[in-house]
Formats: sequence, structure tokens, C-alpha cells
Amino acid sequence: MCGIVAAASQNNVINILADGLKHLEYRGYDSAGIAVIENKKIHSYKREGHVSELTNILDKKLTSNIGIAHTRWATHGKPSEINAHPHVSDNNIAIVHNGIIENYIEIRDKFFKETKLESDTDSEVLAHLINSYSKENDILDAVYLALKEVKGSYAIAVLDKNNADEIIVARHGSPLLIGVGENVNYIASDAHALIMHTNKFIYLEDGDTASISSKEIKIYDTNKKPVQREIKKSNLSLDSNTKNGYEHFMLKEIFEQPEAVKATIQDRIINNTVPKEILGPNVDKYLSNFNLVQIIACGTSYHAALLAKHWLEKLAGIPCQAEIASEFRYRKHAVQKGTLAVCISQSGETADTLSALRQIKQEDNYVGTVAICNVPESSIARECDSTLITHAGPEIGVASTKAFTTQLVALMLLIIVLGKRFDVTDELEKSLCEQLKTLPTKIKSTLDLDNEIAELSKIFSNKEHALFLGRGSHFPIAREGALKLKEISYIHAEAYAAGELKHGPLAIVDENMPVVAVAPNNVVLEKLKSNLEEVKARGGKLYIFADIKAGFKSDEISQVFEIDAPMNPVAPILFTIPLQLLAYHCAIIKGTNVDMPRNLAKSVTVE
Ligand code: F6R
Repeated sequence: MCGIVAAASQNNVINILADGLKHLEYRGYDSAGIAVIENKKIHSYKREGHVSELTNILDKKLTSNIGIAHTRWATHGKPSEINAHPHVSDNNIAIVHNGIIENYIEIRDKFFKETKLESDTDSEVLAHLINSYSKENDILDAVYLALKEVKGSYAIAVLDKNNADEIIVARHGSPLLIGVGENVNYIASDAHALIMHTNKFIYLEDGDTASISSKEIKIYDTNKKPVQREIKKSNLSLDSNTKNGYEHFMLKEIFEQPEAVKATIQDRIINNTVPKEILGPNVDKYLSNFNLVQIIACGTSYHAALLAKHWLEKLAGIPCQAEIASEFRYRKHAVQKGTLAVCISQSGETADTLSALRQIKQEDNYVGTVAICNVPESSIARECDSTLITHAGPEIGVASTKAFTTQLVALMLLIIVLGKRFDVTDELEKSLCEQLKTLPTKIKSTLDLDNEIAELSKIFSNKEHALFLGRGSHFPIAREGALKLKEISYIHAEAYAAGELKHGPLAIVDENMPVVAVAPNNVVLEKLKSNLEEVKARGGKLYIFADIKAGFKSDEISQVFEIDAPMNPVAPILFTIPLQLLAYHCAIIKGTNVDMPRNLAKSVTVE
């Protein structure tokens, strides 16, 4: 949610800022802006739209040794040039802000009743507040005093015209890191923006404030006491920032799934067993005393949670609840003693999931917390007792693909470890390990459906609505297929448990309603077949993704796409692949922005 990049250098920083913004664009892309200090003046440039709109207007001769930049995902105030960051106060102070200042109206009414504000944003108020405190305090104190008034979440970078060598930054609830260079230091919301310049990063902690110049980095805690934070080396590769010959990041990431799954199981399956050590040194805190699992996640990660619930209960006999984090955090819970919490998050920064995790940590009946996460340095990964990293590599496309399938793989590894005290026998462990090891090859074969699905998309993309059906452990996959289709092709799609059709949704089935079915060869196959007959009888057109042994044949009403997905617990992972491809190809035909769909952003760091 919004991307921040900033730099203080002995050389010109304009290209650093412009390139950094391009790499952060997946976090928000409705407007962008940059502010630099040149000849003792703040110069600010802003544009509505993508980062390229901004870089097109930047004067080629513009130079500066210090600057801050921002790409926005609108929360307060519509996407527009006026609402774009940086917000400049009195030509003195410029700020970029990620997060939400919840009490900005109170602050505005208390301090700026007489001031005419330019924008509709919460952030502009903070710029004015810092500016007013800077009249009688140095800039670091001014930031501290201003932030004392603020309720909400923020990562900010502040430029002060009268202090042209340093940038002040602060974080509370939104990610921010410092990139360490030679005669240059950087700031960014994530390492992608800077990996072409440095692989050395300091991850700021909540409550930290820092002053950064080209020569020096000083970090302070909430009480303004100087603190040391470790410099970590990142192994992000430059490659992860490029499309590597693919037309879109999303397509590249779909095709990276065999490798991503391989990397996620690598070194975690040893002689067909999964050692508890994959959960790190704190595993003994909860392994012998938990007796049920509560999973929390949002969006696609929540779909992974739903499938994990099936697996935990069916394979391990462990009771499990899965809940959307934004609901979980605002209701009262009857928590049973011995509950283990599992948070699933690709980014590890999703505000609702993080906040739910923090609530859980206050509650005695939870015996431990486990993160399934793709970003090792993220808040969720750092704040859980154990973290199982999905080695998907950076996911840039806003629609989650390889992060989802690797989350499922990591969840299966977790279930094997947790389940040994319950129903996971040595024999079942061996069989699940073998199934996981065959996945990369099976995903590769499933990707061969690409051309066939591209053809199907020519018909499908004309539709305005679609229904996705699945049963049992494949219902979460149908839900994920529907989410993928709507988020990138803007075709309205809903998923139903196939048995629910006749309880209402069947009323909308006619020849204009495509119905996509996920049809594994499992115990509910015959039931699913009956549900699909109900669709056919109403003239609904069927697109069935079926296991080769499920016995479906194409006819004038149904088109069948065969997948080699033997009847075993990991089969749902394979059925995910064609649904990702369907969404992708429909989006291409509809001409939407596949990697940056409208109204969305990759990392949802606001509620
Ligand atoms: C959809 C998608 C989102 C995310 C959700 C949670 O394709 O990517 O629904 O899954 O915003 O994000 P994380 O997993 O980062 O917590």
C-alpha cells in the first residue's frame, strides 16, 4: 500500500528515486510524486496515474543530492495530482507517507482550523504539523512531537529545506527499511526498490525514527534513545525485478511455480520425513501442548487457510478454524486452552493479519504462533514464534499465484510436523512427502494446458459473470479461481460449494452463465457430477477441469480440460494452475493491466 523511496547521496539521486518508484509501483499506482532540495529550495513534482506519467515530466536537467518519492494507493482523497505525495508545508517541509492517520480530522481541527488545506488527504495534515513544530525545534524533535499527536499507522520520510543533508524517517505499523551504501544511504518500503544499488539493509522496527545522510545513519527508539539495528544481507536477485522475457510478471510467476515449490520443500523433506526443526528453535514451546489450530489470513492467503483446515482435520485429526483477519480482529473470541495460531501472509505486512496476530499474542490460551510467509524480514515473520518461509521468490504481480501454491506446500509440511502427535503415521508422512516431491513435475505438465486455456479465454472473456464450483478440499480452489478471474479480468465471478447450487444460485444459471467446475477424482465425484447435471438441465455451459480418471467427456454443453491429478491430498494444488491461466488469458483479451489491476495494490498495509 503505497511505496516510499528516498536517498541522500554525494551524487545526483534523481535516477535512484525514479527507478525505485518503478520497482515499487506494484504497491500502489494511482499517482506518484517526488520532492528534492536544490539550491536551498524544495522542488516537488507530482502526477496522477502511473510512475511513467511522473518520470515523463521530470526535467532531464534536474539534479539533487537528496530526495523523497512516493507511489500512491488512495485511501483518503481520490487519486489526483493534488492528493499525490509528497505533501509540502509552507515550502519548508515535504513528506511522503504510507499508512493511515486515523485522527487527522481531530489534528486538523485542533491545529489548523484557519489553514486552507490543499488536499483531501490525512497526510497533508502531518506535513503541516511537522512544519509547525519545526519552527521551534530541530527537525528530529519536530517529527517526534508531531508523531506524538498521531493515531494510526505510518511510514514517513521527511525533507526539511533548512536541513538539506538529512532525511528523517519513522515507522509505526507500515514497513520501512534503510539501504546502506558508500557515500549514499537509501530508504524504501521494500528491498526491491534498492537491490540494484545495495544488498545491505536495516529493517526498522515499529516505533523507530532515524536520520539518514549520505555519510551517516542514526536510529532512535520511541523514547529518542539511540539504538543499533543489525545490517542484514539480502539475497534478492536483480532477476526478480525483471520479467525475464515474459510479457507480464504474473505469467512469469505462474510458470515459476515448479521451481518455487521445489525450493519450498528443499531441505525440509529428509528421507521422506519432515523434521520439526523446520519450525525453528521455538517449536518446543507449542508442539507438545497445542490441541487445536486457529488460522488467520486475508484474500488468497485465506483460501490457503481454508484448504489447510481440510487437511488438518482430515489428515491429522486436528481441530482447526480458519478466519479472515479483518473479521477476526473485531470480534470477541472464546479461545480454547492450547490453541496454536497460524498466520498466512505472502507479504507479511498485511495490516489486518498483523493486528490479529498482535491481539493473539496478548491472550493466554494461545500456546504459540506460526507464520507462513514469503518475506523473511516482514513484521509477521519476525513477530511469530516460528516462521516457515515460502521460497516463492519475490511476487511482483498483484494477483497472487506462486505465493499461493507455495503457501499450500508449506502448510502441508507444517501439518505433517504438527500431526505426528495426532493421526499422521509414519506411513502417511512418507506418502505425503512423496506426493509433495512429485508436485514440481506435475505442475509443469499442468502448465502445458496454457494454449488450450488461451483458446477457451476467447469465448470466456466475453462473459460478464461466471460461477465456479468445487466440493470439499477443492472448494477453496474454486474460490481462488473466482477471485483471480475477478481481480485481473474484472469479470464478476462467484464460487459456490457445488452442493449449495440448488439452494439459490441455480436461479442465475442459463445459457449466458459460464460455469467452471473443479472435478478431481475423489469421494465426492459422483455428487459433483449430479450437481453439474443440474447446471446442464438449465442450459448452463460447463467448463470442467477434471482429473484424467474422473470420466468426463466434452460434448456440446461441456468442455473438459484434463489434468493428471491423482486422487491424493495435494491434488488441489494442481487444479489451481489452469484457473490462474484462465484468469490471465481473459485479462489479456480484455486488455486490462494484468500486473497492476485497477483499485488494488500488492501489500495491504492499511485496514
Ligand atoms: C489476491 C491477493 C490478495 C492477497 C491478500 C493478502 O490475488 O494477492 O488477496 O492474498 O491481500 O495478502 P498477504 O498474503 O500478503 O497477506
